[in-house]
Amino acid sequence: MQTLYVELGDRRYPIFIGSQLNVTEQLVPYIKGKQVMIVTNTTVAPLYLEHYSNAFKRIGKTVKQCILPDGEKYKNIEYLNLIFDALLQENFNRDCTVVALGGGVIGDMAGFAAASFQRGVYFVQIPTTLLSQVDSSVGGKTGINHSLGKNMIGAFKQPQAVFADMSQLKSLPPRELSAGLSEVIKYALLGDVDFLIWLEAHIDDLVQGDEQKLAEAVYRSCAHKAKIVANDEKEKGERALLNLGHTFGHAIESYLGYGEWLHGEAVAVGMLMAADLSCQIGWLSQQDVIRVETLLKRAKLPIRYPSIPLEQFLSYMAHDKKVLEGQLRLILLKSLGQAVITADFDTEKMNQAILNYQIQG
Ligand code: NAD
Ligand code: GLY
Repeated sequence: MQTLYVELGDRRYPIFIGSQLNVTEQLVPYIKGKQVMIVTNTTVAPLYLEHYSNAFKRIGKTVKQCILPDGEKYKNIEYLNLIFDALLQENFNRDCTVVALGGGVIGDMAGFAAASFQRGVYFVQIPTTLLSQVDSSVGGKTGINHSLGKNMIGAFKQPQAVFADMSQLKSLPPRELSAGLSEVIKYALLGDVDFLIWLEAHIDDLVQGDEQKLAEAVYRSCAHKAKIVANDEKEKGERALLNLGHTFGHAIESYLGYGEWLHGEAVAVGMLMAADLSCQIGWLSQQDVIRVETLLKRAKLPIRYPSIPLEQFLSYMAHDKKVLEGQLRLILLKSLGQAVITADFDTEKMNQAILNYQIQG
């Protein structure tokens, strides 16, 4: 087991990473108050709910559960309200802990509930997808979707602790594992060429679900995110680098309708577009772009997207949160392992980068 800390002064918190983690020893000290509400979904509950519920009960906690339907389409105000219903019906008070047990959808919803119930209660993240272990459970972004935009309503709510157990990834569908690997590759591309070399050596093991290698990949990814969040919690600057590939990727997700492609899959093609544009600017070589493409392919991620009219692609990109005073800013690569945020690129070249990754014919 390895432990990392997100250094946020008196809100500093640990991320526990390993296989078959010990709930009683590691996690229980972070469960504050007597009342515990575990928020999970219909897929994860039969797999892992009892394990955690029993561990909390054994130390005398009153444990209740809120089991939501599974899917991004339920990440909205109507289903968020079910968490508030459960908290109120069970007479939960301010000194309680909300536990998110699931992937990023559950983490974002439970976190937002914890941020707003009685103006804020304790919160613990138990991420059960690779994507949530390396990204959404760390850094405190929580929220829900609105019919007019994804993740448009939310709050920053840092957890007391994050508990990332690799043994829970065994039950994850391979496609979801690959989507998580996309975010892992993102950290290497944006900030750590040595990690990129390590991933190139071990990507097959990761795809196969090797728990030791997964723990190493989660540790290295979270170390990057923890450092960036500690420097820029509210995304005034460098935290935006974590969105490498996302502006392009969101356009693919929005056009196809959320759920058709997984977020990590769209980000994979988006990262290729960012690499391609960086190459056209003269920062990356052709060889670098091929290196990125090869790694994504080996991670069983898509590297082309179904044809989308350019106008429409651009209009989705224009809704990006990084648009400042009407100007689109992108995360590009000065070199492999060094990302920058910039508005200084040629639109024609950007359009070319988008078109280069369409499925032909
Ligand atoms: P998800 O939560 O929908 O989980 C993917 C699927 O895997 C679901 O069907 C889920 O029920 C299932 N599942 C979860 N754990 C499982 C397990 N151990 N075994 C078997 N099945 C399991 O998707 P996700 O990729 O984890 O997260 C995506 C969400 O995260 C999006 O809503 C996105 O907006 C959000 N997100 C938030 C942040 C942030 O910083 N807050 C960052 C990235 C993504
Ligand atoms: N997933 C991007 C961030 O947490 O900032």
